[in-house]
Amino acid sequence: MARRALAFVCQNCGAVSGRWQGKCDSCGEWNTITEEAPASASLPPSARPGRKGRVFGLEPLAGETHEAPRLASGLPELDRVTGGGFVRGSVLLLGGDPGIGKSTLLIQVSAELAKAGHRAIYISGEEAVAQVRLRAERLGLSGAPVELASETSVEDIVATLSHGRTPRLVVIDSIQTMWTDAVESAPGTVTQVRSAAQALIRFAKKSGAAIILVGHVTKDGQIAGPRVVEHMVDAVLSFEGEGAHQFRILRAVKNRFGPTDEIGVFEMTGLGLREIANPSEIFLSERDLGVPGTAVFAGIEGTRPLLVEIQALVAPTSLGTPRRAVVGWDPSRLAMVLAVLEAHCGVRLGGHDVYLNVAGGLRIQEPAADLAAAAALVSSLAGAPLPADAVYFGEISLSGAIRPVAQAQARLKEAAKLGFAQAIAPEASRLETIGESGLRIVSAATLAGLVAEIAARGNRRKTVNLPD
Ligand code: TYD
Ligand code: MG
Repeated sequence: MARRALAFVCQNCGAVSGRWQGKCDSCGEWNTITEEAPASASLPPSARPGRKGRVFGLEPLAGETHEAPRLASGLPELDRVTGGGFVRGSVLLLGGDPGIGKSTLLIQVSAELAKAGHRAIYISGEEAVAQVRLRAERLGLSGAPVELASETSVEDIVATLSHGRTPRLVVIDSIQTMWTDAVESAPGTVTQVRSAAQALIRFAKKSGAAIILVGHVTKDGQIAGPRVVEHMVDAVLSFEGEGAHQFRILRAVKNRFGPTDEIGVFEMTGLGLREIANPSEIFLSERDLGVPGTAVFAGIEGTRPLLVEIQALVAPTSLGTPRRAVVGWDPSRLAMVLAVLEAHCGVRLGGHDVYLNVAGGLRIQEPAADLAAAAALVSSLAGAPLPADAVYFGEISLSGAIRPVAQAQARLKEAAKLGFAQAIAPEASRLETIGESGLRIVSAATLAGLVAEIAARGNRRKTVNLPD
C-alpha cells in the first residue's frame, strides 16, 4: 500500500511545506508547524477531481437584486460597527483575546433577537449548556427564547440547523472547537478550522441565516489562529480592551456590507456589557485637572466625534538609551513628533524617558492626534498644566507646520457640547468654522509657537510659585 504523503501546515498562517521545520518560512513564527493530512483529503468529496461538472444558470449583471436585508441586533453599538445589522446569509467572525467578553456579547445579542421574535440559536463548543444558562441568568436574560446546544460536530450542527424554521442568527462559540468528518486532522488545526468554517459558510449562503463565528486570537501556535478564516467570511470584527479597563471597543477589521472605521463602545459590568452611547463623557470622566502632561484630543472615530485624554510623562532618564513607551498610539508617530520637537522647537529630549498613554484603553489611529500628543509632552516637560477647558487637534508635518484635518466642525461641536471653551487647532479650521460652534479657536500655525506658549506658562507658574 502506498504511503500517504503528509503535509506540514503552519498553524499561524496556514502555509504548507513538505517537511517539518522549527520556523515557518512564510510568517516567521516559531513552533507553529504541525503534521496534518494532505490538502486533497481536506476537500469535500464533491470537490474531488473526476466528477463531471453540473451546468448552472448564469445571470445578467443588470438583474434585479433586492437590497441586502438587514436584521438590527437590538444593540445599536453593534449595529453601528456592522453597518446597520446582520445581513441575511452573511458570516461574521468575532475575534478577540480569551476573556474579553465575546461570549457575553453574543448571548446578549441572541437574547435581544429572540425576544424580538426571531429564531436565534447559540451553539457553544466550549461551555456546557448549564454554564451558558448560568451566565444568561446572571445577565437577567433567562426569559429570552434562545435555543441552546453544546456541540462540536459541524455535520451534526448543519443537520440540526437545516431542520425546522430557518434561524435568523446562529452563534458558533468558537470556531476553534468545531470539527468536521470531512478531514482527518485533529480539531483546532488550521485544516479543521478552515473546513468547519467552509461548511458553516455554505449553510449560511444556502439558508439565509446569519452566522457569527467566534475566534480566539492567541499568540502561541497551539490553537489555529482565526486568520485563516478571515478571507472566507463577510465581516471580521475585533473585540478589544486593555486588561485593567472596563471599556471594550468593537471594531470592524473587514466588512463587505458596511464601513470599517466605526467603533462600538461597551463597558463590562457585573450585569454584562453595557452600551456607551456617548463615549466622550466616559473617556473624560476620570480626568486629572490641573496636572501637567495631559491634553484632550478632539478625535473622530468613523462618523462619531470622540474626545479622549492623552497623557504624557517626560522624565530625566537613568539609562544609556532613554525609554520611549506608548500605549494606544502608533510608536512611529511618537518618534516623529519627538523628532520635530527636537529639530524645530529646540526641545531637547535625548536625556529623557518619554511615556505616552491614551486614557481608557482606546487606540487612536488618526494623525490628527499629533498636536494633542505634542502639547501633552511639552506640558509634562515644562511642568505646566494646559488649560482645562481646551481641546487639541491637528496634524504635525515634518517641517513643524500644523496641517488641517478633516471634520473640524464635528470635533468642535462635540467639544462645545461637553463644556469646553477653546480649541487649539490648525488655522484652516478656524477660518472654515468661524463662529459656528461657540468655541474660541486659537489657531496654531507652527508647533514652535505652541511650544513657546506652553513654556511661557510654565515659567510664569514657577516665578509666581502657584500652588497646585
Ligand atoms: P466571556 O464572555 O466569557 O469572554 P470570552 O468569551 O471572550 O472568552 O467573558 C469573560 C469575562 O467577563 C470574565 O472575566 C468575567 C467577565 N464578566 C463580567 O465582568 N460581567 C459579566 O456579567 C459577565 C457575564 C462576565
Ligand atoms: Mg467565550
